[in-house]
Amino acid sequence: MTHAVQIREFGGPDVLKWTLVKVGTPGPNEARIRQTAVGLNFADTYMRNGVHHVPIPLPTVLGVEAAGVIEEVGTDVHDFSRGDRVVYSGVIGAYAEERLVPAAKLFKLPDNIDDGVAAAVTTKGRTAQYLCRRVFRVKSGDVVLIHAAAGGLGMILAQWTASLGAIVIGTVSTDSKAEIARANGCRFTIVSTREDFVSRVAEVTDGKKVSVVYDSLGKDTVLRSLECIRPRGMLISYGQTTGFPPPIDLIDLMHKGSLVVTKTQSTDFTSDRGEVVAATEELFEAVISGKVKPNIHQQYALKDVAQAHRDLEARKTVGSSILIV
Ligand SMILES: NC(=O)c1ccc[n+]([C@@H]2O[C@H](COP(=O)([O-])OP(=O)(O)OC[C@H]3O[C@@H](n4cnc5c(N)ncnc54)[C@H](OP(=O)(O)O)[C@@H]3O)[C@@H](O)[C@H]2O)c1
Repeated sequence: MTHAVQIREFGGPDVLKWTLVKVGTPGPNEARIRQTAVGLNFADTYMRNGVHHVPIPLPTVLGVEAAGVIEEVGTDVHDFSRGDRVVYSGVIGAYAEERLVPAAKLFKLPDNIDDGVAAAVTTKGRTAQYLCRRVFRVKSGDVVLIHAAAGGLGMILAQWTASLGAIVIGTVSTDSKAEIARANGCRFTIVSTREDFVSRVAEVTDGKKVSVVYDSLGKDTVLRSLECIRPRGMLISYGQTTGFPPPIDLIDLMHKGSLVVTKTQSTDFTSDRGEVVAATEELFEAVISGKVKPNIHQQYALKDVAQAHRDLEARKTVGSSILIV
């Protein structure tokens, strides 16, 4: 038996319960991991609330990413062995001291990436990789707008796009978050609680607008984000922190300058192991070289994850948060 944080019903942070669960022995293609650090992601709150786009069975252990040490491997696992330090992302059940994970989802950790850093950056960094290196290939001189630029993913995206030579404009909710965003790649910041981001983008770009908007906020921002994009630019809607985005009128996209719009989900960028290996290697390289900084601003004990959810949803967090096992 091991401790895990389980939900038996959907709802607020109080549904997260510290519980004893059975781990079992690994199947032929699985490994049993003793976890040391678990990543906290905004999508965990969608799953807890029952609004995630993939149905979540009940009861379930939440969390999708963690780092730790392999304790035991199944009979058909040859690339990993007991004692390996590993990380995985995208496998529900991560809020646990120990668990089973398909070996196909594991990555060995380089010596210079510790477990906490791996848990903080793997999901967010691989998402940032596909957003700025594959969906829209950011190049030097591009002007980009990133919403929630002082958040976990937003901050990594700001660092990464700035390192590619982009001029980064970031929205945040407070002046102190603006300062942190400017220290992490944003040349301009917009405090969205008191400034209109559409007119500020027009102002700082001399009316030229931006090549791409990275919109994780959804409902509250998507339609206005379209106002910030120059002809033939792109809107990438990749999250719904404020609710699901509204429908978009195709004719309006033509009038705004033949804009391109995509709504992305990570599963479409993580189903091919070769692509994920390449993205993970690129991410680890970016972390080791300092292009991407882990920025772990909050740490909680795993059993206090309900407080971590409260802080994340109340916009109290900055950068990444991890749960220590
Ligand atoms: N499509 C994909 O593949 C993929 C993968 C991973 C994550 N995501 C998405 O990326 C986004 C960021 O994830 P994250 O884990 O790094 O979270 P996060 O950005 O650290 O936290 C969310 C941030 O959103 C901002 N926000 C604005 N309105 C908010 C509201 N009403 N309630 C709460 N926060 C609000 C807050 O920043 P301010 O206070 O500065 O406004 C807050 O810090 C999420 O939408 C997530 O679903 C998408």
